Amino acid sequence: MKEQLQALEKEALEKVDDATSLKELQDVRVAYLGKKGPITEVLRGMGKLSKEERPVIGELANKVRGNIADAIDSKKASIEAAELEKQLEEETIDVTLPGRPVPTGGPHLLTSIVEEIEDLFIGMGFEVSEGPEVETDYYNFEALNLPKGHPARDMQDSFYITEEILMRTHTSPVQARTMNAMEDKRPVKMICPGKVYRRDTDDATHSHQFTQIEGLYVDKNVRMSDLKGVLDRFAKQMFGQEREIRLRPSFFPFTEPSVEMDISCKVCNGEGCSVCKQTGWIEILGAGMVHPRVLEMAGYDPKVYSGFAFGMGPERIAMLKYGVDDIRHFYTNDMRFLKQYHQA
Ligand code: PHE
Repeated sequence: MKEQLQALEKEALEKVDDATSLKELQDVRVAYLGKKGPITEVLRGMGKLSKEERPVIGELANKVRGNIADAIDSKKASIEAAELEKQLEEETIDVTLPGRPVPTGGPHLLTSIVEEIEDLFIGMGFEVSEGPEVETDYYNFEALNLPKGHPARDMQDSFYITEEILMRTHTSPVQARTMNAMEDKRPVKMICPGKVYRRDTDDATHSHQFTQIEGLYVDKNVRMSDLKGVLDRFAKQMFGQEREIRLRPSFFPFTEPSVEMDISCKVCNGEGCSVCKQTGWIEILGAGMVHPRVLEMAGYDPKVYSGFAFGMGPERIAMLKYGVDDIRHFYTNDMRFLKQYHQA
């Protein structure tokens, strides 16, 4: 019996040694240490042994079981360690590898310019307003002192939807809307960016749809010098402190007097070059003192209130600031163009 147990021990330890997976190891455990295993079998025959032999064989059997169990446990630990090692090796992540860049978008040049202009005027106390792009004839023209049949309507060829409804040709209707909406007729200081539409043939400087930013300041004692001060500050912040502005007399039915504002040409410093068509000046916006009739129609007493208004095209501003030579670049969405203006 002793030899039998020793042979079983040797056999079991060899199998433990040969096992290469936890499954094989478990099979060895069940085969040798299980209730139906050979060691249990040997112990069943103990009844036939003499009194003296019994404890000796019993002790040996326990020792053999213990040895096999220990061998299984230590093999188990080494298989587990090897498996973990293998898994770690397979799942290695090299944290020092450079990441794959995720392409990021950026604001459209036009959006950036509009926001820049907004910020600048917000800094001077203006609020940002909005108005509809599909507009009534009343707000687009009549409330701005352009009655039906007025020849100046021809300055802005319009897309009419019905006789009374059109795509707005400028952002000036928002002047009338904002003043009208002011029930207590408080002072107004607002800018309004937005899309406008004109029946123009698209070319390098014309687009049937473009953007304007309107400005309106109505209060007691607003003067032309206030307009000039605000526009001068705008021009210098937008184009550089060295820029000069000049106001030229002009005509808009909704302002009196009306002006057009030029900025000095950066390219030639006022000497005259091809960019400024040899004049030394570049036109950038229209403005003027709000016409008394416009104030009156919107419920503001022109004897108490006065105001100034201006309207500019951010595409034109961006074209001058960045040397963009064709307004269509803003709308054709060529990424090669747009990407040049993405700031990180
Ligand atoms: N609405 C005018 C235009 O579209 C611009 C302008 C606005 C002029 C406000 C004077 C005052 O040309």
